Amino acid sequence: MTAQLIDGNALSQQLRTQVAQRVQALKAKGLTPGLAVVLVGDNPASQVYVRNKVKACQDSGLHSVLEKYEASMTEADLLARVEALNQDPSIHGILVQLPLPAHIDAQKVIEAISPAKDVDGFHMASAGALMTGMPGFWPCTPYGCMKMLESIQYNLKGKHAVVIGRSNIVGKPMALMLLQQNATVTICHSATPDLKAMTLQADVIVAAVGKRNVLTADMVKPGAVVLDVGMNRNDEGKLCGDVDFEGVKKVASYITPVPGGVGPMTITMLLVNTLEAAERAST
Ligand code: GUN
Repeated sequence: MTAQLIDGNALSQQLRTQVAQRVQALKAKGLTPGLAVVLVGDNPASQVYVRNKVKACQDSGLHSVLEKYEASMTEADLLARVEALNQDPSIHGILVQLPLPAHIDAQKVIEAISPAKDVDGFHMASAGALMTGMPGFWPCTPYGCMKMLESIQYNLKGKHAVVIGRSNIVGKPMALMLLQQNATVTICHSATPDLKAMTLQADVIVAAVGKRNVLTADMVKPGAVVLDVGMNRNDEGKLCGDVDFEGVKKVASYITPVPGGVGPMTITMLLVNTLEAAERAST
């Protein structure tokens, strides 16, 4: 068997076309959705990410501002900027790029963002909304994974989903989203004694650890669906995921590539959340 690819670029393009249409409809009513992206310091990966986020906004007709600050910025100054953006009616979504410099308490900054503008979905109010099934913003990466499953019309009801990784940004919210769709969910992590025993039972596997070759072909049940959230570099410096793609694609029914899989979907769902924030603000 050779797995079919779930193409994150193609799906993103479809979704971004829909976003652009909804943006135009809002603009016709006099409202332009706006995203503020705040970058503190000069982490090279973060610089690329924020540039891509701002460019995606421009391409879909959203207003965006990029605020860049020195790594020496104080926590108090950053909190003041967040508060100013909370009050700014032209801004519907606020994203503070992580990681922040060590002297700034990232959680404190996240909690300072108004939940109504928390398009990253990292605020405690957003996490609580996801957990209880209330309206709120879902973190973009797991949200993008759910859209990928939807795109292949995958019915999660009664299926066993195994999530590898328990971060607040991906693993934990991913598990809750899968649960909401009636999957039986197992979360595995660094203290799981026998990862392979778990993944071999899985109909759906989401790998979100940040380490190469966490999932190899011998760990995958034939026909399983494999979503790769990893963003790593191999020995040649090429971008690769957490999954041994060449091996696993021979066993899985569907697989997401890296690059061109979950990555573009993360930015797409950020646009969706920002649009949604603006639509909510307009009603
Ligand atoms: N750093 C890496 N991924 C993300 C993300 O999705 N949002 C933010 N704010 N920072 C990140």
